[in-house]
Amino acid sequence: MRLRSFAGRPVGVIGQGTWRLDEDARTAAIQALRHGLDAGMGHIDTAEMYGEAEPLVAEAIAGRRDQVFLVSKVLPHNATRAGTIAACERSLRRLKTDRLDSYLLHWRGSVPLAETFAAFETLERQGKILSFGVSNFDEADLDEAVAVAGEGRIACNQVLYHLEERAIEHAVIPFCRDHRITVVAYSPLGNGSFPSASSAGGRVLGQIAAEVRASPWQVALAFLVREEPVLAIPKAASAIHAEDNALAGSLLLTEEQMARVDAAFPRGPKPRYLPMI
Ligand SMILES: NC(=O)c1ccc[n+]([C@@H]2O[C@H](COP(=O)([O-])OP(=O)(O)OC[C@H]3O[C@@H](n4cnc5c(N)ncnc54)[C@H](OP(=O)(O)O)[C@@H]3O)[C@@H](O)[C@H]2O)c1
Repeated sequence: MRLRSFAGRPVGVIGQGTWRLDEDARTAAIQALRHGLDAGMGHIDTAEMYGEAEPLVAEAIAGRRDQVFLVSKVLPHNATRAGTIAACERSLRRLKTDRLDSYLLHWRGSVPLAETFAAFETLERQGKILSFGVSNFDEADLDEAVAVAGEGRIACNQVLYHLEERAIEHAVIPFCRDHRITVVAYSPLGNGSFPSASSAGGRVLGQIAAEVRASPWQVALAFLVREEPVLAIPKAASAIHAEDNALAGSLLLTEEQMARVDAAFPRGPKPRYLPMI
């Protein structure tokens, strides 16, 4: 598994998402997370929004908290100064841990960033979070976030990024690279809508997969994390999928293979608004 810096710590380029994992078969979902951990996917992403996912994560990481880079998120309507602290404490209780490695604002709401970040700083001083970041921020939001929090303080921006949605390549990734903000690609496999094997793009993925003895999903993940400072957090409900995703973390495509993926899934023009789901 290749590593990249997240909040100044080495983290695998592929981590594990948990949205709707609580809707899958529980034992298999816990096994999938544990298998992912064994395979080097220590970065586990969850959120107060994800219902019963946090307790499920607690069960999966019991006894091995030190191997995990644990991330959770506060909902925008809870992100006031007092609300953020209360939300974090609830997440810590559900996760049965005393700290989060990073705590993110899930998306931008009406609470001023200064208030949310002041709460993050309080939590940091208390040792309840080790870093903080944002999610679904475009470059203008990021600019404001850096101005409010200070250069080097925003650990990450978690954003939508998959082969058929490459909007962040226009301005978000360059901004984050310049400001040493880790980009965490969410829904990297298209949130369950992956290019079919019979589509033009799917055929290109299939050909490259055969060349490198990998799966099309692994080729997609390897392409997304091809350069700094991007990590990806696919969600897997089975150990087989978790294993597949972890192996993508050491798959290196050639320039020529990456050019074929790039041509099959063009970046497209910069949209007016940053896409999110
Ligand atoms: N910040 C935000 O606003 C935000 C928004 C969306 C998502 N997220 C985060 O990003 C994570 C990932 O995104 P996502 O859950 O939307 O979807 P995703 O990871 O793009 O796709 C998940 C789907 O891909 C399948 N899959 C996973 N690995 C596979 C493999 N190796 N081969 C074939 N199929 C595979 C899964 O099947 P199985 O489930 O059957 O394994 C599931 O159907 C979320 O879980 C969440 O943590 C954050």
